[in-house]
Parts: sequence; C-alpha cells; structure tokens
Amino acid sequence: MAQPAKVAVLIGSLRKESLTRRFAHALIGIAGPELALEIVEIGALPLYNPDLEDNAPAAWTAFRQAVAATDAILFMTPEYNRSVPAALKNALDVGSRPYGHSVWDRKPGAVISVSPGAMGAFGANHHLRQSLVFLNIPAMQQPEAYVGGVEKLLTEDNHFANDGTKSFMASFLTAFEQWIATHRRG
Ligand code: FNR
Repeated sequence: MAQPAKVAVLIGSLRKESLTRRFAHALIGIAGPELALEIVEIGALPLYNPDLEDNAPAAWTAFRQAVAATDAILFMTPEYNRSVPAALKNALDVGSRPYGHSVWDRKPGAVISVSPGAMGAFGANHHLRQSLVFLNIPAMQQPEAYVGGVEKLLTEDNHFANDGTKSFMASFLTAFEQWIATHRRG
C-alpha cells in the first residue's frame, strides 16, 4: 500500500469549544488510512512582523517546519465578518515568509467553511481562496464545502449526526485524496 498522504489540518477558530474544531474531529474520525490528518495549531503564532525574521520566534519556526513536513493542507474555518479570522490569515502570512521560502508553494489544499448560520461561511471560504491563489496552493474546487447550521450536524461526542453529512464528507475526503495524488509535489 502507498504511504498515506500527510495532511495538516488548520483550524481558523482558537476557542476551546469551537464548532469548527468539533467538525474537524468528526471528519478525522471518518478518514480512511490513505489520509493521515493531523491538526497543526496556529493559536500561539506571534502576529507576523518582518522585523522579527532576524531572530524568528520559535513558534514560527515550529509551524513552518510542521507544515513543510506535510503533503497537503486542509483549511477548516469559521467566518468572521464575512472573511477569515485573523489567526488563520496570520498563519498564512507566517508560512509565506521569508520571501522565497514559503511553505505553501505548490502544496495541494482544500477548504471547508463552517458556521452555525445558514450561509455556511461562504464569504470566509472565498476570501481564503483569494490568498491561496497568490500562495500557489492548488485548492480543490469540487466538491465545495459550505457547512451551515453546524450545531445540528454534530453529536455531543463529535461525530456526524446524520448519514447525509457523513456521506458527503466522506466523498469530500475521497476527492481530496485524488486531488493530493494529482498535485503532490515531487
Ligand atoms: C462571527 N460569526 C459569524 N458567522 C457568520 O456566519 N458570518 C460572519 O460574518 C460572522 N462574523 C463573526 C465575527 C466574529 C468576530 C465572531 C466572534 C463570530 C459567528 C460565528 O460563525 C460563530 O461564532 C461560530 O461559532 C465561530 O466558529 P467556532 O469558534 O465555533 O469554530
């Protein structure tokens, strides 16, 4: 059997009881052996400031190394004011520098946006995609995943609450696995 693809899961929310994080756990729970999904934390990254590069914060270095060691990135984000939370944008910025040493370049990605609201954080999903274009992350186009009304889709112990959600997310993971196989860096 081929080695599983190592996927960094970045979660845009920092709060402990985050619905996005809970949804990520449900997703990790159904992933097959072809995908090794691992949450890479972004909450301790100091705000990006180029002045700090001469003596880069240890958290930046650890984050860059963790992302560099993966084959792909799965972005799971809530929406803050119709965009991505600052913490997630900061993680993108940290990983993109120093100039010429971006950890994102050509790393395949996918986006799942999550909201208790009806629109499934569409605005965050597409704002994020704008950055991914510039960062040269080939982002899976289909299936799109705008998860609305998320509270009803999860059980208390962080599994998918219905077969429709489970089966859609399983198909998302299958498509992502194929996307990674196509775009994996040589
Ligand atoms: C929100 N929320 C929100 N929801 C949404 O669908 N569109 C939006 O633009 C916003 N804007 C927004 C701004 C800020 C600052 C906060 C704190 C929240 C609500 C948001 O979807 C809700 O709090 C989610 O529960 C956040 O995700 P986590 O933390 O549960 O993963």
